[in-house]
Amino acid sequence: MHTVQPPISPPPEDVAVVVGATGGLGSALLAELGRDSRYGLLFGLSRTPPSATAGRVVPGYVDLTDEASIEAAAVQARSLGTVRLVIVATGLLHDDAARPERQLEELRPEALMKLFAVNSIGPALVAKHFLPLLPRHGRSVFASISARVGSIEDNRLGGWYSYRTSKAALNMLLKTFSIELKRRAPSAICVGLHPGTVDTALSKPFQGRVAPGKLFSPAQSAVHLLRVIDGLTTADSGAVFAWDGSRIPG
Ligand SMILES: NC(=O)c1ccc[n+]([C@@H]2O[C@H](COP(=O)([O-])OP(=O)(O)OC[C@H]3O[C@@H](n4cnc5c(N)ncnc54)[C@H](OP(=O)(O)O)[C@@H]3O)[C@@H](O)[C@H]2O)c1
Repeated sequence: MHTVQPPISPPPEDVAVVVGATGGLGSALLAELGRDSRYGLLFGLSRTPPSATAGRVVPGYVDLTDEASIEAAAVQARSLGTVRLVIVATGLLHDDAARPERQLEELRPEALMKLFAVNSIGPALVAKHFLPLLPRHGRSVFASISARVGSIEDNRLGGWYSYRTSKAALNMLLKTFSIELKRRAPSAICVGLHPGTVDTALSKPFQGRVAPGKLFSPAQSAVHLLRVIDGLTTADSGAVFAWDGSRIPG
């Protein structure tokens, strides 16, 4: 007797998520991931999703200060396929209301709260809603762009109170997530990354003091960061790595 076989459904796509997809580094990471055939779909999340996107990029909306938007994006990500990579490439150093502080008289609660909201709490909420999507089996990575200045041990110059402390808090959050992740998804890796000094809107006002040859283009930095991500093992989870793969002290 001829039996009718059920249709074989294709395996779910592996999805890479970039939060901050229209930022300097985020857009470069998305472009570089577009050349990587391991990911069937790229989910580019931003407050202002790009209007024109290349074939495999699915644009989505996220405002880091609005948890409901992060939760909705995670629900959408789950429907796209298996989330194997999440890169949080958002961040804030300065805006019209906040400038990096040079001395303690410049400390303002509003600036501290704003930078913590974007640099620490925002990525933490992305972790809250996206870490549970990482598969229990098979390698996956959650990476949040931090900064070398978030290292307490490496702080020799002082200043930049809001930015430094918000990135230090981010680093501790990532370490703490990595401990819980060991139990939930033992093959998953959770790290912070320092991209080097990169020519973006964020670093523009401070590029004067960068030594010649030390300023990366966003594309160069994206290549470096994706190489570091590819080399990570579960033993690296919880740490912060620079663009050259070196470990940044806590
Ligand atoms: N550039 C450097 O030299 C350097 C050095 C060390 C570390 N980093 C870190 O690298 C990361 C990327 O920075 P970048 O240099 O690419 O800066 P950027 O070009 O200014 O990009 C920052 C991104 O963050 C997004 N963002 C800010 N607030 C947000 C919010 N509330 N909700 C959603 N998105 C928000 C911005 O979105 P909009 O486009 O909607 O404003 C923008 O896409 C940051 O974490 C930064 O701290 C950069």
